[in-house]
Amino acid sequence: MIRKYRTGNPFPTESVVREIPASPGVLPYFTHSRLPDGRPVLTYTMADDELVYGLGEQVRGMNKRGWHYISHATDDAIHTESRVSLYAAHNFLLVFRKNTGFALFIDNPGTVEYDVGYSEIHTLRILLPNGDSDFYLLDGSTPKELVKEFRGLIGQSYIPPLWGMGYGQSRWGYKTEEDFRRIRDRLQENGIPVDAIYMDIDYMDHYKDFTVNRDAMDLPALSAEMKRDGIRLVPIIDAGVKQEEGYSVYDEGVEKGYFCKKPDGSDFIGAVWPGLACFPDFLRPEVRDWFGKKYKILMDMGIEGFWNDMNEPAIFYTPEQITDAVDRISLYKGTRGMVFEDFLQFQTALRSAVDTECSYKLFCHSVDGKRIPHEQVHNLYGYNMTRAAGDAFREMEPDKRLLLFSRSSFIGSHRSGGIWTGDNHAWWSHILLCLQQMPGLNMCGYLYCGCDIGGFGDNTTEDLLMRWIQLGIFTPLMRNHNGGKRDQEPFLFSDPKAFADLIGIRYGLLPYLYSEFVKAALGDECYFRPLALEFPEDDHAAHTEDQLLVGDSIMIAPVYTQNAVGRYVYLPEEMLLIRMRSMEDFDTQVLPAGHHYVPCGLKEMIFFLRKNRLLPCCAPASCTDRLNLSDLKVFCFGDGEYALYQDDGFTTNYTDPAHFSHICCRDGALCSDNPGLTLTKANL
Ligand code: GLC
Repeated sequence: MIRKYRTGNPFPTESVVREIPASPGVLPYFTHSRLPDGRPVLTYTMADDELVYGLGEQVRGMNKRGWHYISHATDDAIHTESRVSLYAAHNFLLVFRKNTGFALFIDNPGTVEYDVGYSEIHTLRILLPNGDSDFYLLDGSTPKELVKEFRGLIGQSYIPPLWGMGYGQSRWGYKTEEDFRRIRDRLQENGIPVDAIYMDIDYMDHYKDFTVNRDAMDLPALSAEMKRDGIRLVPIIDAGVKQEEGYSVYDEGVEKGYFCKKPDGSDFIGAVWPGLACFPDFLRPEVRDWFGKKYKILMDMGIEGFWNDMNEPAIFYTPEQITDAVDRISLYKGTRGMVFEDFLQFQTALRSAVDTECSYKLFCHSVDGKRIPHEQVHNLYGYNMTRAAGDAFREMEPDKRLLLFSRSSFIGSHRSGGIWTGDNHAWWSHILLCLQQMPGLNMCGYLYCGCDIGGFGDNTTEDLLMRWIQLGIFTPLMRNHNGGKRDQEPFLFSDPKAFADLIGIRYGLLPYLYSEFVKAALGDECYFRPLALEFPEDDHAAHTEDQLLVGDSIMIAPVYTQNAVGRYVYLPEEMLLIRMRSMEDFDTQVLPAGHHYVPCGLKEMIFFLRKNRLLPCCAPASCTDRLNLSDLKVFCFGDGEYALYQDDGFTTNYTDPAHFSHICCRDGALCSDNPGLTLTKANL
C-alpha cells in the first residue's frame, strides 16, 4: 500500500508517474520535530535486527546502517568511506527485518541528510532542507514487494539497445580517428568482443557540445566504418556550453535566454572543461526541448548513443570567486613567515576560489516564470539534462532505442536513461563498492548501470582488471573507462586471450542477461537482487554483503581481494557452482546450502545456478549484432522452466507476445514452445 503525505508546497519534480491523493495526518513510523532554524527532522528507532537498504548511489555497504549520507549531487572523485555524497540524490529507503518493513521516498529536490545510526546507533534521523516535501510511504507487503510497488510508482525503467549490453572500451584521451581505429584493430586482433568505443571530450572542437574536431576525424565516415564491424561510437555530452560568440549553441542560448541566470538577470558563467561556460536551464521544458534536439547533429553523423557528464553540475570556479579570492589573498602580499592562523585564512581564501558549493549560491532557475535559487532544486539538474535527451530521442526516433546514460541523477531520470557511478579508482575496494551500489540503484529504478571497470583514477593492474571484469560481466553497462596514467585496454596486458575469453563469457550469457534485464524493466523487478530480500527468513542471507542474485536463476560471488585464489561464499540453498574460463571451458559442481570456501583462479570466474532454474547461453561473437541467439546452450540444475525474452534489440516494441518463449527442462530433456530455437544442454 502506498500513502502520500504532503507538507508545505513541494516543488513538482515529476519523479513519480502515479497521481496519489495526499492522506490526512502526518507521516507515520517517525516522530516529527524541528531544528531551531525550522528545518524538519524525522526520527525513527531501529530495532537491532532491522536493515536499512536504499539511497541508491552512495558509499559503503548495501545495509546503510552505521554511517550518515547526504543527498546532494556532488562532483567528487574520491569515493572513500569518509564521503557522504556522490553524484546522485536518491531519496529512497527500505527499512525491514525478515519479511516485514516499510519504505519511504522523500520527494524533495534539495539537500536531504540521513543519519542512519551514525550519531546514535539505533536512531535513524532524517533532516529535510525545508518544510516542502511529498513523502511516499509504502508498507503492508514484503520488502521485495515494497520495492516493486515503489518502482510502479516511479514508472518503467529505461531499456537500452542490445548493443548497449555489449562490451564498451573507453579512455579519456582518445582524440583522432587513428586512435579509434587503433583501439578497434587491437581489440579485434586479440579476439576481444566489443560493441562500443566511447568518445571522451577530445572528439569535440575545443570541448564545445555538439561539435566535432574535424581536423582529427571525419565522424560520419568513421562511425559508418565502425558500424560495419558492429561497433558504435558513443560521444560524451557535457552540461556546460562554452561561452564563445559565433558558436551557435552558445549564441542561440543567449538569444533565447535559455541559460541559468544570476539574480541580476545576467547569464551565470562558470568554468568547466571548455573554460568559461553557460549552463542550460534544464528545468524549463522549452530549454530541454532545445538542448535535446541538438543531439540530432551527432545522430545525423551516425551516432546512436551518448553519455551525459558534468551535470551535477560540475563547476570548477566562477570569475566572481576568483576575483574575490585574489582580493582576499592580495591582503597577504609581502607577508613573510605567516603565523599559523593567518595561514589557515589564506588557505581558506585559496580554496574558496574553487569551491563549487559557493558557485551554487550564485544562480537561479526560472520555473513557470518564477526565479528559484539553484540550491533549492540542485539535485534536479542532471535528471533534467538526461530527460532533455530522452524526451528528444522519443520524439525524433519514436521506434528506436538510443543508448543514454548520465553521471548525475535524481529518481525520475531512470525513465530516460541509465547511469554510471562516476570517477571511481583502480582500488580493490571499488570492485566491492560497485557490487554493493547495484541493488540500491535498481531499487531506485536504475537498471541500466555500471561502474568504470578497471577504475577511472589511479593505475590499474592486470589482476585487478581481470577480477573487475568478472563482476562487470554481469553489470548491464559493461565499460572499461580510465582517466589514470596507465592505459588499461585489456590487450595491453600479458594475457589478452584470458581477457578475450572472459569478455566472451559476457556475450555467451547475454540471452539470459538481456532477458532478465528486459523482464525486470517491464515487471518493475530488480535485476540485481540482494540476498536479504530473496531469502528474508535466512539470517546469514540478511548479512551477506558481497554476493547478489542476478535475475531469477543465478547468484554471483565475485573475487574482489588482491592475490586471492578463491573466496568464501554463502549458499542459502543448494546450488550448482559453475566455474568458467571461457564459454567452452567450464566445470560444475553441486554444493549444499551453507558456507563454502570456493577456489577461483585469477583467469576463471565463479557463479551459481539455483535449483530448478535454467540458464540459457549462446556462443560468443565479436559483437552483439553477430550473436546467434537461436542456437542456445542451456545450463540446467534439475528440471525447470525459463521465460526467454528476445527481440530485435533496437526497436521499442517490448511487449509483443512474440518476444517471449518458454524453455523447459522436463526429466532432464529440454523443450520449448518456440520451434525456431535449437537447444542443447550445456552441462551434464
Ligand atoms: C569526468 C567524467 C569522466 C571523464 C572526464 C573527462 O571526470 O566523470 O568519465 O572521462 O570527466 O571528460
